[in-house]
Amino acid sequence: MAFTIAIDGPAASGKGTIARALAARYGFAHLDTGLLYRAVGRRMLDGTDPQQAAETLDLADLDEDSLRTAEVAQAASKVAAIPEVRQALLDFQRAFARRAGGAVLDGRDIGTVICPEAEVKLFVIASPEVRARRRFEELAENGFETSYDAVLADVEARDARDMGRADAPLKQAEDAVRIDTSEMSVAAAVARAGEIVDARR
Ligand code: DC
Repeated sequence: MAFTIAIDGPAASGKGTIARALAARYGFAHLDTGLLYRAVGRRMLDGTDPQQAAETLDLADLDEDSLRTAEVAQAASKVAAIPEVRQALLDFQRAFARRAGGAVLDGRDIGTVICPEAEVKLFVIASPEVRARRRFEELAENGFETSYDAVLADVEARDARDMGRADAPLKQAEDAVRIDTSEMSVAAAVARAGEIVDARR
């Protein structure tokens, strides 16, 4: 049986952590849709036309570690504003969402465009300062040298682009439940998300 949990929100809001935890808890497949845009963004940085990169995307390109840099994140946000790129990635995401056995997808437009019929929709947010702090600590732990101010500027630029684009901008679906993780522990945020899912199952 298909059961889709759609999780949207800005960068470093905690949506990925919640998505992975829910997938593990319910035995659902998980797709981090940001990786699709990051893989296209990286190929653009290598000189490939973004539309062509999206149309020929190989799932073997979704190697997480090499896609986690700030440079690739900005490139992902730029290619994500191109309608032809979004279109090329649509069918794969829709099929994933409706696969048998349940699926969790996290991104920016899952509840609004990819899977408007999702059984559960969550909109996960946190203040830009909290998100920048989390991303800064994550980058530092992984050995990337950067400053908090640079990460905050990055987060704000990406928010503006992701919310301001004409095609599938980041916004809360009308029937999504909002979780603000600014003042929440990971465990509390995951528990809250689990309660919402349990109520719909
Ligand atoms: O979630 P992330 O930080 O890995 O996403 C990288 C970029 O990809 C993000 O800035 C905007 C874009 N994106 C999108 O437009 N739609 C999605 N469903 C997921 C990501």
